[in-house]
Amino acid sequence: MMVDMHCHVIWGVDDGARSEDDTHAMLRKAAENKVRHIVCTSHITPGEAPFPVDRYQDHLARAQAFCRDEGLDITLHPGSEILYTDQAPRLLHEGKIPRLNDKRAVLVEFWYDVPTDTLYQAARLLGNEGVTVIFAHIERYRVSRNIKLLEELRNEYGVLMQMNARTVFEKQGFLTDRWKRKLLEADMIDMVASDAHSINSRPCNILRAWEVLRDEYGQETADRLCGGAAAKLLALES
Ligand SMILES: [Fe+2]
Repeated sequence: MMVDMHCHVIWGVDDGARSEDDTHAMLRKAAENKVRHIVCTSHITPGEAPFPVDRYQDHLARAQAFCRDEGLDITLHPGSEILYTDQAPRLLHEGKIPRLNDKRAVLVEFWYDVPTDTLYQAARLLGNEGVTVIFAHIERYRVSRNIKLLEELRNEYGVLMQMNARTVFEKQGFLTDRWKRKLLEADMIDMVASDAHSINSRPCNILRAWEVLRDEYGQETADRLCGGAAAKLLALES
């Protein structure tokens, strides 16, 4: 069962889908990718930019109704992708940040050049709120080249790591490709998701990633990374 636990499919709330038609096209694309569950992780920046909660909830309900009407076997779930700020832990504590499927899990992203200290701070302070912290597209950050750092974040704070589907199959040069393989072979990646923003420049391509993972690491690993792990964590029905 394919689960896309990182996807900007809800229109009109961030830099993902621009219109209701965009959302519909993205949902059809997700269905082609055999995705059964999508966690709608729109961007939020706690304490720095207001998030249109009512619009998000309304659009999510309409998108789910579209799936029903079109016969797409996709269930949508609430969530967010949190750009980590100093205020994020407090606002999470106050219940003002949407968790993934309303469960004890959050998806967190950082600026590209995030310092190591900030990663530790986020892992510790958000983890103190009793949630599982998932770092979004871990491959994007300069410091992620330090595999020891990732090991520490995983072992000491229980942080889970998400990789973008495109990273799995896109050739990016010898050194980067070798490093990506190393992350996967060292079991440093817990989930693969599309991080889709559109159907053109950043489409849902999780099926292609699943095929590459199956061919290189076996079906069990591909299933776990592209659905199983997220389904278990977020209690999604198969
Ligand atoms: Fe994202």
